[in-house]
Amino acid sequence: MYSLKGKVAVVTGAGSGIGRALAQLLAAKGCTLALADINEVGLKETAASLPTPPLLQKLDVADRDAVYAFATRVKNELGTAHIVINNAGVAVSQTVADLSYEDFEWIMGINFWGVVYGTKAFLPMLTAQDDGVIVNLSSVFGIIAVPTQSSYNAAKFAVRGFTESLRHELDGTGVSAISVHPGGIKTNIAAASRFYVDPSGVSSRENAAAGFAKMAKTTPEQAAQTIVDGIERGSKRVLIGADAKLIDIIQRLMPVNYWKPMSALMRSMRK
Ligand SMILES: NC(=O)c1ccc[n+]([C@@H]2O[C@H](COP(=O)([O-])OP(=O)(O)OC[C@H]3O[C@@H](n4cnc5c(N)ncnc54)[C@H](O)[C@@H]3O)[C@@H](O)[C@H]2O)c1
Repeated sequence: MYSLKGKVAVVTGAGSGIGRALAQLLAAKGCTLALADINEVGLKETAASLPTPPLLQKLDVADRDAVYAFATRVKNELGTAHIVINNAGVAVSQTVADLSYEDFEWIMGINFWGVVYGTKAFLPMLTAQDDGVIVNLSSVFGIIAVPTQSSYNAAKFAVRGFTESLRHELDGTGVSAISVHPGGIKTNIAAASRFYVDPSGVSSRENAAAGFAKMAKTTPEQAAQTIVDGIERGSKRVLIGADAKLIDIIQRLMPVNYWKPMSALMRSMRK
């Protein structure tokens, strides 16, 4: 068991959803927290819900220099980092044909490069002390691909490949890397997305967010608990929710043709 008590934990995207629930659970486990988000209001709300004031940083994870400056600040003020959870993320729903490069670069900047910067900026502290865990948020959409999610899929498949490669590099050391693959989690992600169109032909953000709210069965608190259990147990990959476990099985059984049963499943879950 990896003990979290007295460890320094860094969480990006801590102003909402899974990141906020992670901050609350890690605080309860006895971690000292460094929390970052682009949304300062959400970040302060998270801080107010904690028993001890954390280190807070307004941060755009897509800004490489800012992420490295954040890592330096964590080292200067808290001494080091042990757990780094690259959680900040956004969504875009658009077909490949109509997807703008601006939206594609926006999501890759946050969901992929943000994870790379967060990993590389903090990794030297973890390897120097030969103790730590990098936790990178991929998705079930890093396991299967879905129409209108090409940019999100590209980022989340990339996070999975990046994290698994790092994991192998770290084999035999005191540092590990975990890729996390949540199914539908009841958070603000769909409502905050750049939404144009979804696979069922829904063309309004409100309808899509309502559909997502029906489909997402897991709470952020349950997601945080599963991630923290994974850190403590030394898991290599964490699947969150019954939907993620089912999707993982369908992908293994039908590695090429999974979309037919998957689309039927997603339609029934929306009802
Ligand atoms: N909710 C789901 O169903 C689900 C499923 C699979 C994976 N995920 C992943 O889980 C992670 C957390 O998402 P969530 O569901 O809690 O969503 P959320 O929208 O509730 O929280 C995401 C947080 O990231 C922050 N953020 C956005 N852009 C940022 C930037 N440039 N720099 C720093 N912070 C930024 C937002 O302000 C927000 O506080 C994301 O990586 C997401 O892709 C979520």
